[in-house]
Amino acid sequence: MSLMAPEAIRKKVEKLREEIQYHNYRYYILDQPEISDAQYDRLMRELEKLEKEYPELRSPNSPTQRVGAPPLESFDIVRHTLPMLSLANAFDETEAKDFDKRVKKFLGTSQDIEYVAEPKLDGLAVELVYERGQFVVGSTRGDGVNGENITQNLRTIKTIPLQLIRKEIPVPERLEVRGEVIMQLKKFYELNRKREEMGEPVFANPRNAAAGSVRQLDSKITAGRPLEIYCYGIGEIRGRTFKTHSEILQTFPKWGLRTNPNIEQCKNIEEVLEYYHKMNEKRESLPYEIDGIVIKVDRLDLQARLGEIARSPRWALAFKFQPKQETTKILDIIVQVGRTGALTPVAVMEPVKVGGVEVSRATLHNQDEIDKKDVRVGDTVLIQRAGDVIPEVVQVITTKRKGTEKKFRMPSKCPVCGAEVIKEEAIHRCIGLDCPAQLKGRIKHFASKRAMDIEGLGVKLIDQLVEKGLIRDVADLYYINKEALIALERMADKSAQNIIDAIEKSKTKPLSKFLYALGIRHVGETTAEDLSRHFPKLDDFFHLSKEDLMEVEGIGPEVAASVHQFFRDKKNKESIELLKKAGVKVIEPKAKEKGALAGKTFVFTGALKMFGRDEARNLVESLGGMTVSSVSKKVDYVVVGEDPGSKFDKAKELGIKTLTEDEFKKLIQ
Ligand code: IVH
Repeated sequence: MSLMAPEAIRKKVEKLREEIQYHNYRYYILDQPEISDAQYDRLMRELEKLEKEYPELRSPNSPTQRVGAPPLESFDIVRHTLPMLSLANAFDETEAKDFDKRVKKFLGTSQDIEYVAEPKLDGLAVELVYERGQFVVGSTRGDGVNGENITQNLRTIKTIPLQLIRKEIPVPERLEVRGEVIMQLKKFYELNRKREEMGEPVFANPRNAAAGSVRQLDSKITAGRPLEIYCYGIGEIRGRTFKTHSEILQTFPKWGLRTNPNIEQCKNIEEVLEYYHKMNEKRESLPYEIDGIVIKVDRLDLQARLGEIARSPRWALAFKFQPKQETTKILDIIVQVGRTGALTPVAVMEPVKVGGVEVSRATLHNQDEIDKKDVRVGDTVLIQRAGDVIPEVVQVITTKRKGTEKKFRMPSKCPVCGAEVIKEEAIHRCIGLDCPAQLKGRIKHFASKRAMDIEGLGVKLIDQLVEKGLIRDVADLYYINKEALIALERMADKSAQNIIDAIEKSKTKPLSKFLYALGIRHVGETTAEDLSRHFPKLDDFFHLSKEDLMEVEGIGPEVAASVHQFFRDKKNKESIELLKKAGVKVIEPKAKEKGALAGKTFVFTGALKMFGRDEARNLVESLGGMTVSSVSKKVDYVVVGEDPGSKFDKAKELGIKTLTEDEFKKLIQ
């Protein structure tokens, strides 16, 4: 039942929204949060509660509304008040200097032109419309005149303010903001890794991932994608004027609009060229992709005089970096078999440097991709590298064909174990139960950092262990002895001991990591976490029905069937039994309430045997506690591992409670 909101509640809701907006600003724009995540969550929960109780107080621009709205059938069209233009390109210094000359000639001056130089972000251009400070419409660029209405999706992006801040300066009557929605490289790899695990097609590059995410009809999907925005310009503005582009950029953050930190003012074209070289160097270390710089005449009166030509402004230029593309020749196409049995064709190429890195292999994804691009052995191809992702073949240079090139066909038998290969949609899969390639892949995954985290157990070692028949199942890892390891190639006593220690250290893991490590089809890290939260006991998984599994939010019939089948399989059951017998301990969650360590602050010192540092920190934080790096009176516990440092002495000096690793484990269980 809904009640009429009394004035006091209305005020409270308004205040909460303002407070949350302020903290968003501190976090996303200034990068200087004032409160902890937990405190922020509390504010959000309070607001959510009030909005639930008093539905008439709900508003589409409330910070609670970033989770996505009901799906659309199609996007509406938005006509841009002022067209969203594109940019003319320059590819070398001469062309950039020519641009400067053209600008001067057009304006009839020989004096230096002041420019603003910005990174050219490789994402998707969008327009955000604010009316009296409220975000009302967001759209894609489209053809420049008409774009698609993606308001619902843009609302889910946390760096887009839903209302402009008006504390410092008034907000204009109407403001059209233009900017680029991007996805950071790390987030992009992460997303692709998850998609691969789920058997979904991967995105070719961060730009496609950003564009694909923003153009979802279901904004809940967008809400789950790690998108962000940098604002770089305006369309129409009513109720305020600016003199220069840099003034616009300086004003944006005051309204809560995020701008890129690498933007610089340049006194003349020479300074622009310096900036270009500097950014070209910096490019590899930026967390997102840029493909050049954008140069803009700073004075808006000059911009207006310069106007536009052929859909591009005369006052701006995209000065592109050398592309990370090269041509080379395909010498062979080989087939790799992954842990799920999927066969991936890989092009072996004449080595070539792409963006400073030597490349001799490129993924061809699958047979359908090869057919679509008509890639043949002997072809000269254009390849590209996006960040540090696996290079891929963009297209065949057909004019270089001699007629001797050979078409490629996926084998009908697994190249590793000889078992039959079946085709499931685009993917060819080896169905061999004892395929060594699959086993190697499974062990690699099991031992990987995000799974059981067995340090030092690398690909070469795994290959040897499988090939020598020392390991037939992941559980065998925990039964291996040092002597067997020493007998392997290039394995000294010390390294063998290190591996044994690392295996030992990996034995205690949270249920979610363990589930992920098992390599169940369609169970990535997030699904494993969801599962472990819902079903905190490992043994229960042997009895859960598909329906039980589908109770977990986000788990559909396909994932449920896969998990169900995995735990019914006799071999898998035996393997888990063997793991347990070997001493693998699964920490089952929820034994403690989520907030069991609320208000408690921890410091770690010395080496921990059972937990990684990050893992221990995560555990504390997942129970509502806090971790800090130095000991002070505010600290409640100091967890002391092996060879503790001066923090241990400081703890004793201040009389702070110290815990051994075992005591810590008990506390969190
Ligand atoms: S200004 C007329 N600034 O480049 C001004 N664009 O080819 C046009 N882009 O569609 C936009 N970074 O997607 C501008 N700092 C930046 C940019 C940028 C990337 C993109 C944008 C636009 C395309 C133009």
